[in-house]
Amino acid sequence: MRTYITTPIYYVNAQPHLGHAYTTIVADTYSRFRRLCGDNVRFQTGTDEHGDKIVEAAEREGVAPKEYVDTISGMFKSTWPVLEIEPDKFIRTTDTDHVKVVQKILQSVYDSGDIYFDEYTGLYCQGCERYLTEKELVDGKCPDHQKAPEEIAEENYFFRMSKYQQPLIDHIHANPDFITPERYKNEVLSFLSVPLEDLCISRPKTRLTWGIELPFDDKFVTYVWFDALINYLTGIGYPDGDLFEENWAVAEHVIAKDILKPHAIYWPTMLLSMKLPLYQKLHVHGYWNVDDTKMSKSIGNVVRPKELVAAYGVDTLRYFTLREMSFGLDSSFSSDAIVVRQNADLANDLGNLFSRALAMVQKYREGTIPAPGAYTEADGALRLAADKMLANYEEAMGRFNFHLGLQAIWGFVGVVNRYIVTSEPWGLAKDEGQKERLDTVLYTILESLRLLTLVLRPVMVGATVKMGEALSLAPNDPRISLLPLGREWGLLEAGTELQALATLFPRLEKEDKTEVSKKQLKKEKKKKAVVADDNLVSFDDFKKLDLRVAEIVAAEPIKKSDRLFKLTVKAPEERIIVAGIAEHYSPEEIIGRQVIIVANLKPTKLMGVVSNGMVLAAQDVDGEKQSLILTTVSGPIATGSKVS
Ligand code: ME8
Ligand code: MG
Repeated sequence: MRTYITTPIYYVNAQPHLGHAYTTIVADTYSRFRRLCGDNVRFQTGTDEHGDKIVEAAEREGVAPKEYVDTISGMFKSTWPVLEIEPDKFIRTTDTDHVKVVQKILQSVYDSGDIYFDEYTGLYCQGCERYLTEKELVDGKCPDHQKAPEEIAEENYFFRMSKYQQPLIDHIHANPDFITPERYKNEVLSFLSVPLEDLCISRPKTRLTWGIELPFDDKFVTYVWFDALINYLTGIGYPDGDLFEENWAVAEHVIAKDILKPHAIYWPTMLLSMKLPLYQKLHVHGYWNVDDTKMSKSIGNVVRPKELVAAYGVDTLRYFTLREMSFGLDSSFSSDAIVVRQNADLANDLGNLFSRALAMVQKYREGTIPAPGAYTEADGALRLAADKMLANYEEAMGRFNFHLGLQAIWGFVGVVNRYIVTSEPWGLAKDEGQKERLDTVLYTILESLRLLTLVLRPVMVGATVKMGEALSLAPNDPRISLLPLGREWGLLEAGTELQALATLFPRLEKEDKTEVSKKQLKKEKKKKAVVADDNLVSFDDFKKLDLRVAEIVAAEPIKKSDRLFKLTVKAPEERIIVAGIAEHYSPEEIIGRQVIIVANLKPTKLMGVVSNGMVLAAQDVDGEKQSLILTTVSGPIATGSKVS
């Protein structure tokens, strides 16, 4: 199979921002996903460098247009590697081969009679670089640019778009996946429910010279959209060659909703006139807003992708954008949201799973992959969950529902974490008779890590290379591909040595809002605890206790203390609790466990760490043993549930 995926070519009137980054991350992720499936993939992006907007921007900077476009185009080109985005082709509309082909196409459409000369009076929006219809205006203004369009009367060349209105409507009905998600298909059909006007495709040189000259009239240059859309053909060598034939047959475009009309109406009608097959699919996504306000240069809330990479790392940025946005709907960016996803999804759920699993293999099997024995029902249930995850993931990724693909993966991360808790490898390790069972459990966990590495490869390039390395899998090992082989169970070879795991996702520190001031702490110390006269506690006193079920998501020893762990628990909000259990448990034994905590204990500082609550544990009455057992619930329950 073959895949040809494109992004819009971005205007070089502004530097790359989160919106451009998102579209291009999507196209890159989809490319990597298709490659994992064994497809031959071509991925194209680039820059759109002609038109009024560019000339204005160059004038503002006081440089010649060509110098200006070279600089900004270079900024787009150099941003992509920083985001681990690897296009096969970066096209610029100022490339000479592109210019030549646009002129050739114009000439042939002109010769076929689909371009004519006429005078036109219309409402022109500078921002959109096109004439608007009365119907599109809101309170007399362009809704996208909040400016009244100018009335312009001039002689120009027109493309007979109206001629292809009905064929386009028929095509959309006959090909339900032509424009997705559905809401955008409906929007296009609604545009098409009224008669289409022909498209003005020229600009007189008296008004604009920065464009491609019309081959049949040197007093005009080409309208920027007629020029720009053709990039999807010129980038694959149109009109000749296998590269063009093979790729055009499978073309898919990704865009945001701002440029739906040019892609869903101008472009297919141009292709119909050229007698070329239409592209296969148009994938349309919504807008990124920032803290719920539209990102815009004038508001000054533009988010720069390179700065995000510097602050959070590229894996987190790619994961966050794909997980947070439901493809097709608008989404909001905030740095709090990205920190929460980094800590909860990446550092806790995924990162801890890898580190604790590999630590157990290190501890119990000296870092060597054991051979599994007979599988039990519990192992079978995990494998079923893995199959389901793979199926849901493939379905979602193929349909551009990246957030659903990632949800499926994290559902499985939860399954594996619970499998570790219920199969208790640390208990099995104490019993020589359970050696084979421990081998099977460890092997099952390692195979789960392999599958997680596999499915995350399109999303997080650097992290999955590290995950693979730890499992002794080279970056392109077919066992971490979606070829039929990679889906099988049991591909890790017993006897293979595991490698050390590099840190996958460091926890990001958020301001600790629960920390109390030192002054307040001193005051608390002065107050004497109220002790009841007898051993009986009144019901009212008991009611004051807020007991809750909490999940331990991280555990680390506190320096200079043999006894204390700094625990991060969810109840359901995250908090830090210092617990004196280090002599009785190792971190990997307790991560993922549900315990009971006192949630409303006054914060206290222990060895420099503020503890917000207490974990309950039972002390063995047989004093000699000195053992301590964490209290828990008898079955899984939502974290944060009240204990009463
Ligand atoms: O329209 N949220 O270029 P452009 C999400 N040159 N995506 C966003 C976004 C946001 N807030 N802002 C921009 C043009 N994008 C033409 C395209 S194609 C033949 C010619 C992304 O620089 C999104 O992909 O204005 C959107 O469609 C594109 O940038 C517009 O880029
Ligand atoms: Mg734009």
